[in-house]
Amino acid sequence: MHVIVTGGSSGIGLAIATLYASRGDHVSLLARHPGRLEQAQAQIDALPGIDSSRIQIASVDVASAAQVSSAIESCEASFGPCDILIASAGIVEPRTFDAMPASVFDEQISINLLGTANVVRAVYKGMKSRRDGKIMMISSGAALIGIFGYTAYCASKSALGGFAEALSAEAAAYGIRVSVCFPPDTQTPQYRRELLMRPPEAAALMGSVKPWSAEAVAAKIVGGIDRGRAKIHFGFSLTMLAYLGPLIKPSLIWWVSRKTRKNIGKETSESLAESSDRRFDHGK
Ligand SMILES: NC(=O)c1ccc[n+]([C@@H]2O[C@H](COP(=O)([O-])OP(=O)(O)OC[C@H]3O[C@@H](n4cnc5c(N)ncnc54)[C@H](OP(=O)(O)O)[C@@H]3O)[C@@H](O)[C@H]2O)c1
Repeated sequence: MHVIVTGGSSGIGLAIATLYASRGDHVSLLARHPGRLEQAQAQIDALPGIDSSRIQIASVDVASAAQVSSAIESCEASFGPCDILIASAGIVEPRTFDAMPASVFDEQISINLLGTANVVRAVYKGMKSRRDGKIMMISSGAALIGIFGYTAYCASKSALGGFAEALSAEAAAYGIRVSVCFPPDTQTPQYRRELLMRPPEAAALMGSVKPWSAEAVAAKIVGGIDRGRAKIHFGFSLTMLAYLGPLIKPSLIWWVSRKTRKNIGKETSESLAESSDRRFDHGK
């Protein structure tokens, strides 16, 4: 079995790649930075019982369709056709919409959504001709509800839900199973970076839930792929949000926006007080 994992050098992608490698599958890790890819490969190789000749790495930016197509072609040339694609490469950069440069918004869409489309396109034709294959897109719990400061990320990740559902409708007749999962906050390098940028309004919604380990998320994803699940949800709250969203979301959104308005009101009155103090100091 040949498993291709984008974002395989870190976090959830690396944990998934490790699980498949420990089952004896051929695994290709794709990501941008060669140093991190080499480290990930060495980390997997060092595990007991791993056949290092079954792990390969390829440096590629998923946002570039041309790079993706040639990287996947060469991975398939050495390990055979892709049986399972895991599209885990992704980034997040929380900021309010008006403080987010267009380039930062666009990059999240290019990597998370268009990057996923690029890798799916690179394996899909082959899977269709073989009438076999599995594709797993890594979305996010952030696809299930709009979160303050996450306009680009929520847009990219909820689009993956629609992409997976629509592609699944086209692919099922050819024996290809297309799935999507919606992980919660997970202890990874991305999560640790994200926490430093997460606005307090978002923390009010997300901060009370303990993050999962990357290994636990990976085990649920791989188990879901084995069982042929179309959608994978994590934990009680996110599962409820997924299935009962239209019922739950209005009151949840009302509660969060009330908190947000209070914070903004507090900030505005503090800054008004500061500027009137300054006017007073300057005798104006
Ligand atoms: N951690 C969470 O709380 C959480 C929750 C829900 C969903 N997710 C999603 O899960 C996926 C994995 O996230 P993670 O937390 O494991 O992040 P991570 O530890 O930062 O790993 C991200 C991986 O994606 C690769 N990558 C990023 N941009 C890329 C690009 N343009 N081309 C190719 N590879 C790229 C990174 O390597 P390079 O930088 O070297 O390219 C790295 O291997 C993401 O799609 C993320 O949105 C994460």
